[in-house]
Amino acid sequence: MAGVGTRRAAAAVERLIAGYRGGGPAPALRDRDDVAAYAAYRMPATFQAVRAALGALAGAAPGWAPDSHLDVGGGTGAAVWAAAAVWPAGPAGPRTTVVLDQAEPALTLGGELAAGAADPAVRAAEWHRRALGAAPAGSAWAPAGLVTVSYVLGELPEKVRREVVAAAAQAAEGAVVVVEPGTPEGYLRVLAARQQLVDAGYEVLAPCPHSARCPMEGTADWCHFAARVQRSALHRRVKGGELGHEDEKFSYVAAVRVPAGAPAPARVVRHPQLRKGLVLLELCTAGEGLARTTVSKRQGPRYRAARDVRWGDAWPPPEDDGHGGT
Ligand SMILES: C[S@@+](CC[C@H](N)C(=O)[O-])C[C@H]1O[C@@H](n2cnc3c(N)ncnc32)[C@H](O)[C@@H]1O
Repeated sequence: MAGVGTRRAAAAVERLIAGYRGGGPAPALRDRDDVAAYAAYRMPATFQAVRAALGALAGAAPGWAPDSHLDVGGGTGAAVWAAAAVWPAGPAGPRTTVVLDQAEPALTLGGELAAGAADPAVRAAEWHRRALGAAPAGSAWAPAGLVTVSYVLGELPEKVRREVVAAAAQAAEGAVVVVEPGTPEGYLRVLAARQQLVDAGYEVLAPCPHSARCPMEGTADWCHFAARVQRSALHRRVKGGELGHEDEKFSYVAAVRVPAGAPAPARVVRHPQLRKGLVLLELCTAGEGLARTTVSKRQGPRYRAARDVRWGDAWPPPEDDGHGGT
């Protein structure tokens, strides 16, 4: 934030917030003030959302890790940091990472932030200017183990959105992860991307326990989750917020091209309700669609697991033997 100053960044934050909420085209990240503002107030939240989505993918495919990463519309690189948080560079050496975006100031700041990273894969990331929709999407995308498209589809016309998902499906050698805001519209964009991926032969590993029709489709409900974001003092200042945290609502899909794991039997789709000696879980299940289950204290280990489980987690937890006690 040096060289921008809190007041100018706060003004840029206000402009971006008004732009994102306005319902019109998304605000462009035009200059250094805009991208500094984006990095200070939005990137912590998009980072946590992508980290949660990638974490769910890693949970469903524990033996898999991407050897390369393409981040489409990557902006200041939230998904690059999220991938490094989930799959830190190991002895196999750094992954190759490529970020594509139309906003040069975002790529420049992203590169500067990444240069200070501990993870060599983040430091080695390449930042390329590319306008989606200008040329056929994906015409020059190098194949990558993981392709992420985070908080981008909502900024694109529908035709380009479809092209980008098709290109992501083609470029990915392992997994495609799409993340959108956790609004009804964001969910519908994720749902459309999910169907495109399934039609392209992908298997959904998270959040869904299956690749069949979403049981929330056509209802008043929408599938979304929340990621806790701790706000730094700077974050609070530029956003004018008092609270020490915020919950970023997001929708996502993580799908794989080759069988790399298996989806969880069910996922918790609401905050669990705690009652005396009981935990009430609302689940999306493989066989029964949306289902409610009550776990009682008599179920011992499963009850203890249910007390710890959170909205967005797999159920039962992987270490559970599935018998649920007595
Ligand atoms: C809300 S930001 C998301 C950035 C990043 N993926 C994240 O999760 O924080 C949307 C990004 O999409 C980029 N974008 C929007 N339309 C684009 C287009 N037609 N071509 C390339 N990038 C685009 C913007 O420049 C911006 O960096």
